[in-house]
Amino acid sequence: MSKKVTEKVTWVGKIDWDLRTFHGDELSTFFGSSYNSYLIRDEKTVLVDTVWGPYDREFVSRLKEEVDLKDIDYIVMNHNESDHSGALPQLMREIPETPIYCTKKGEAIIRGLYHQDWNFVNVKTGDELNIGESTLKFIEASMLHWPDTMFTYMTGDNILFSNDAFGQHYASESLFDDSEDMCKVFAEAEKYYANILLPFSMLVKKKINEIIAMEIPLDLICTSHGIIWRSKENIAKIIELYLKWADKYEENQVTILYDTMWQSTRNMANAICEGLLDVKPDLNVKLLNVSQTDKNDIIVEVFKSKAILVGSPTINNGYSYAIAGVLEMIKGMKPKGKKAAAFGSYGWSGEATKLITAHLEEAGFEMVLEGRRSQWNPKENEIDELRQYGRDLASAL
Ligand code: FEO
Repeated sequence: MSKKVTEKVTWVGKIDWDLRTFHGDELSTFFGSSYNSYLIRDEKTVLVDTVWGPYDREFVSRLKEEVDLKDIDYIVMNHNESDHSGALPQLMREIPETPIYCTKKGEAIIRGLYHQDWNFVNVKTGDELNIGESTLKFIEASMLHWPDTMFTYMTGDNILFSNDAFGQHYASESLFDDSEDMCKVFAEAEKYYANILLPFSMLVKKKINEIIAMEIPLDLICTSHGIIWRSKENIAKIIELYLKWADKYEENQVTILYDTMWQSTRNMANAICEGLLDVKPDLNVKLLNVSQTDKNDIIVEVFKSKAILVGSPTINNGYSYAIAGVLEMIKGMKPKGKKAAAFGSYGWSGEATKLITAHLEEAGFEMVLEGRRSQWNPKENEIDELRQYGRDLASAL
């Protein structure tokens, strides 16, 4: 079912209430998502983005209820990952000559994915497309989060079609921010930023400042996932949050990530936590068993932390499977300006702590303390030493 956004713009996307993982199994989506596509009707008719491939027939069929496909003058593809370009082949079977406006890299991606010689029109920052009363202005936003990404700004209605930027994996039939639980929406926007955009923070900051400097009036941010930002207060807030998140973001938080086989590493984690709170009682310390915690929620907690501790028992001369996965994800997110330390229990060889330290160093963390190991179960005097380790870490923050 289509939904009215403004007099000229209609939402024609797909709300996916059932989605629970995205990018294969890389990203949890507990609240579903949407693939937002927009139909602009001015003197010319324009479709902005499509939806994910599994919904291509449904998308085209519903689009036909809204518009005669032959009346679509232009297709604008802001970003061509499969969740937005997946329905293009089905659509282009019906209107094969319709020009597709996208960046040069966007064309390369579409060609790589679908192997079709469609009518591509490459655009770059500064290019415009007059569609009647309104003009579409294209703004390249490379690596936010793919090389092909661009934003499209529509004059008159003052809409920024921002694609993934400012998005959230959040299914909503009501479509707009002002009719939603904003705590949940902002939490999902943060999860989206921490898990998708964080590695590109420098570019995010630069691009937002570039758009602010353009001094364009902004009444709506039409994202490609989740709700549309409509309230002035929320538009200002999400832009401000993006600028904060892009600038070595941290809260007064330390996160202890650990895995445990027989509770020894967990006992270490508890003692370190006590020491941290001895010195800084108002510190928000979170103890997360990585085997029991959603990996993307872990990334959000790392994103919010000024320091992390990572602990694992030594298993087969290495660290645990769950710690290995989380460390790899953390490295990929390239968090900046954060401190770290490693710990873990062992029986005989005890390599885990050293390996975790090396991995965190490689990921760009400042290791503020030597790694701490305990053989078998930590004795009472070792528990005291671990509390001191926590105190030392708190003092180093
Ligand atoms: Fe929502 Fe990068 O695709």
